[in-house]
Amino acid sequence: MELKNKNVFVTGSTRGIGLAVAHKFASLGANVVLNGRSEISDELLAQFADYGVTVIGISGDISNGEDAKRMVAEATEKLGSIDVLVNNAGITNDKLMLKMTEEDFERVLKINLTGAFNMTQAVLKPMSKARQGAIINMSSVVGLMGNVGQANYAASKAGLIGFTKSVAREVAARGVRVNAIAPGFIESDMTDAIPEKMKDAMIAQVPMKRIGQAEEVAEVAAFLASQEYLTGQTIAIDGGMTMQ
Ligand SMILES: NC(=O)c1ccc[n+]([C@@H]2O[C@H](COP(=O)([O-])OP(=O)(O)OC[C@H]3O[C@@H](n4cnc5c(N)ncnc54)[C@H](OP(=O)(O)O)[C@@H]3O)[C@@H](O)[C@H]2O)c1
Repeated sequence: MELKNKNVFVTGSTRGIGLAVAHKFASLGANVVLNGRSEISDELLAQFADYGVTVIGISGDISNGEDAKRMVAEATEKLGSIDVLVNNAGITNDKLMLKMTEEDFERVLKINLTGAFNMTQAVLKPMSKARQGAIINMSSVVGLMGNVGQANYAASKAGLIGFTKSVAREVAARGVRVNAIAPGFIESDMTDAIPEKMKDAMIAQVPMKRIGQAEEVAEVAAFLASQEYLTGQTIAIDGGMTMQ
């Protein structure tokens, strides 16, 4: 799919990987919807001024089905269509299993997995009707490998991979492609919160011995959106962590 003049909705794009993805698509000539639960500031929108594309901010909570429908309707009204959806928004709430409450578990599932369901359901009908579209779900290597203290997060990210394959099978014949990205350890606010000692231990597990950059993940998102014969796949971008 040629990305120039296409409309791309990136959930959780006020910072981190989502923001880098938004910049990447805008640099390729696509119009972009920025999203987060917080207000989309004028300073953030101003970062996109030089791309010569339309960039709008729509704040809202993807874990709320009605909010997801409202955001998709607003984006469609302003841009005409949504051609690419990047389900990027996600949270962590790490605790060892013995200390994790049902609420800790469900809160992460509700945003990371149900949020992607809500947004996908809101865009899928018009995409199927248009016989064109790409959906990209931001999973994680943790969904492939598991991780201590992240039973909730790992379940949500592994769930996204099954979700990706199922929806990809349902809509493949209609020209809509659904893929996932499994980033490894990427520099962002999410990973900045990890204590230095633990970060060093994580980098030691990466064959390439460095943390990844959000821009590197964004390259994969643009590739998955544009490649016409690629669906139902999960691409790990992780410095070699999950190589088999
Ligand atoms: N960083 C890594 O190493 C890494 C590795 C693998 C996978 N990932 C995944 O990549 C994605 C982005 O991670 P990141 O590190 O860039 O995270 P981040 O810096 O914490 O950014 C998260 C973004 O999601 C938004 N968000 C959170 N909950 C939301 C909700 N309910 N509705 C709408 N927006 C919401 C946040 O904005 P508000 O706070 O305003 O809502 C923010 O824009 C996540 O799905 C994460 O699990 C990250």
